[in-house]
Amino acid sequence: MALGWINPENYSFNSFLLLERFQIHLMMDSGGWRCEKEEWRYNMGVALNANPIVKEYFMRRCPECKALFEELTASFPSLKEAAEIRKAENYVILSVEDFIIYTTPEHMAAQCDFIRGWNKKHLFTLADLTDKIVLDVGAGSGRLSFAAAEKAAWVYASEPVGTLREFMRDEIATRGIRNIRVLDGLITNLPFPDRTFDVVLSGHVVGDDYDNEIAELTRVCKPDGWLLDCPGDSEGDMVLDKSLTERGWEAIHYVGSFGKDVYCYRKQVNQ
Ligand SMILES: C[S@@+](CC[C@H](N)C(=O)[O-])C[C@H]1O[C@@H](n2cnc3c(N)ncnc32)[C@H](O)[C@@H]1O
Repeated sequence: MALGWINPENYSFNSFLLLERFQIHLMMDSGGWRCEKEEWRYNMGVALNANPIVKEYFMRRCPECKALFEELTASFPSLKEAAEIRKAENYVILSVEDFIIYTTPEHMAAQCDFIRGWNKKHLFTLADLTDKIVLDVGAGSGRLSFAAAEKAAWVYASEPVGTLREFMRDEIATRGIRNIRVLDGLITNLPFPDRTFDVVLSGHVVGDDYDNEIAELTRVCKPDGWLLDCPGDSEGDMVLDKSLTERGWEAIHYVGSFGKDVYCYRKQVNQ
């Protein structure tokens, strides 16, 4: 079930106190990723009973899911045994390990395969970024933004998770970078006027709701500008994203640093 990005033993259950409202909502709607739903409900119920401060935070931060928090804590036991509680906490932590690693952005580059294995030359072959106005949607720890800033006039890094925005801002200050601006924003509701950018970048962001997400990326892109999806290298086998190619995106293939096939995608905007 795990991506292998974290060892849950290294994370306190209090890491959930750093989640954004949209993350709590998504986690509660989905019941974690890559896991069995009834198991997830049990483990979340046990973990919340053992961590009333996290439950209180979830209820206040994400009131639309209040009934579900109440239901889970009422349906599952308050365990006494510390080892059993930790087992439940670890299960829940691993079920959303991407959200948990975003609470320690400094560990992302070292532990996420798509960041540590990736070479920025694969971005530069997708489109000419020289002197362009670029948007990086769901910028994360800034893999694509920092690479793009070496060529572009300006890079806007939009990212809905506060810990990641702060990380990028600290890096920008430390490295003395002058052409990246970091701001909040969801892919389905980007805080920019129509036709603003020459190039709109993303990696691991498009895919929950292809039509609405691509419509919003297209809206903020200038006519004849480019949409690029550049996911970085994967240690596992990557499959072609037919949902993108069927919508007119060109797939570009290379063999990545782990010896596995990697696909990037691009589409020129005609509007
Ligand atoms: C796996 S990370 C990839 C980060 C970066 N794009 C990269 O490829 O290095 C996914 C990123 O998408 C962001 N994200 C998640 N849901 C999002 C949404 N609805 N809109 C915009 N960004 C989102 C996450 O906060 C996270 O930074």
